[in-house]
Amino acid sequence: METRSCGVRRMCTLSLLLVSVCPLCCRSSWMWLGVTSTGVPEKQGCANLPLSHKQRELCRKKPFLLPSIQDGARLAVSECQSQFRHERWNCSTSERPPVFGHELTSGTKETAFIYGVMAAGLVHAVTRSCSQGNMTECGCDAQLQDGGLSTDGWHWGGCSDHIQYGTWFSRRFIDNAAKNTSMTRGGYTPSMMNQHNSEVGRQAIEQTMSTDCRCHGVSGSCAVKTCWKTMAPFERVGVYLKERYENSVQVSDRSRRKTRRKDQQRPPVDKQQLIFFNKSPNYCLEDRRRGVAGTRGRRCNRTSTGSDSCNLLCCGRGYNTHVVRHVQRCECKFVWCCYVRCKRCESMNDMHTCK
Ligand SMILES: *[C@@H]1O[C@H](CO)[C@@H](O)[C@H](O)[C@H]1NC(C)=O
Ligand SMILES: *[C@@H]1O[C@H](CO)[C@@H](O)[C@H](O)[C@H]1NC(C)=O
Ligand SMILES: *[C@@H]1O[C@H](CO)[C@@H](O)[C@H](O)[C@H]1NC(C)=O
Ligand SMILES: *[C@@H]1O[C@H](CO)[C@@H](O)[C@H](O)[C@H]1NC(C)=O
Repeated sequence: METRSCGVRRMCTLSLLLVSVCPLCCRSSWMWLGVTSTGVPEKQGCANLPLSHKQRELCRKKPFLLPSIQDGARLAVSECQSQFRHERWNCSTSERPPVFGHELTSGTKETAFIYGVMAAGLVHAVTRSCSQGNMTECGCDAQLQDGGLSTDGWHWGGCSDHIQYGTWFSRRFIDNAAKNTSMTRGGYTPSMMNQHNSEVGRQAIEQTMSTDCRCHGVSGSCAVKTCWKTMAPFERVGVYLKERYENSVQVSDRSRRKTRRKDQQRPPVDKQQLIFFNKSPNYCLEDRRRGVAGTRGRRCNRTSTGSDSCNLLCCGRGYNTHVVRHVQRCECKFVWCCYVRCKRCESMNDMHTCK
């Protein structure tokens, strides 16, 4: 058992070395499941996945959760890219761990968003699987199921999403230790920062839940109403976390800086705020060393005033304009009977890319 879980002793030494050199990147490579094109990882088995020792143990105990872990990781990665598609940092990933490159360990608000959205994705995917009745360990919220009294003309019914199991699993799977991450004097450690932000992500699932209802009764009279609690679509969670990202709070890194009196007197950070240590670079120019891709070649919008405007996205470097031909079906007419006839319309559109 010991030899199997560790492989060769040299590997152990190597991973110990890696863990001590970069304590954050290696533990988080489960995120790789969100970018790999490999199908259901269950077949590969837990041993061959880039998981930490603890995650591998958990994976062995609950292999039926692997598809949900992968769903959650994919959901989170694609939501991150969707939320940041117009930003200079666009949440690009590589197919090799650590998937998010330098951003996973830079201690910036981008790091904070990644941890938040990944933890939330896991809760969302596991909970969905519970609600669909795919698991024996969890199901719908039993406290909000049929049988309640019909007060005010409605009662709980159907399947209310039960996020407790998914939340518990997300914590067990992602967090390093059951440390108390509330503000301690002298700031945070990197792992406390990540854990705090992961928890913000899990809270986001709870905060965005809503109640849906359905009417029953003669011709839609709504004499009886059945209601259930449901998680928001993950895009809503993404928007919620993006707002938290915009308003994230800088805290001090205990391991790096000497604590100043100022830091000690700061009020504790709210549980729903993302926290970060370091100011972000401007992400304008390519910087291989810091893993910044830069915005050269990115498509920008000349008429926009937002972050995708050519001025902001290209950092004032200017842009190139290309003319692209666009062919579309147009002037479609219904022809009796039964088909639709269209013309081919060509248009020339300008496309702008950053210099
Ligand atoms: C992000 O931008 C880079 C260019 O800076 C581009 O190569 C990459 O495909 C983009 N990634 C996503 C996910 O849009
Ligand atoms: C639940 O199981 C069914 C059948 O195996 C599958 O098609 C579906 O995708 C699963 N749902 C989730 C959320 O895992
Ligand atoms: C964490 O610490 C705070 C204050 O020190 C305390 O109020 C809270 O109950 C602790 N939480 C846990 C989970 O131990
Ligand atoms: C550019 O931005 C404007 C204003 O925000 C928007 O209406 C338009 O659809 C955008 N164009 C493209 C190609 O995204």
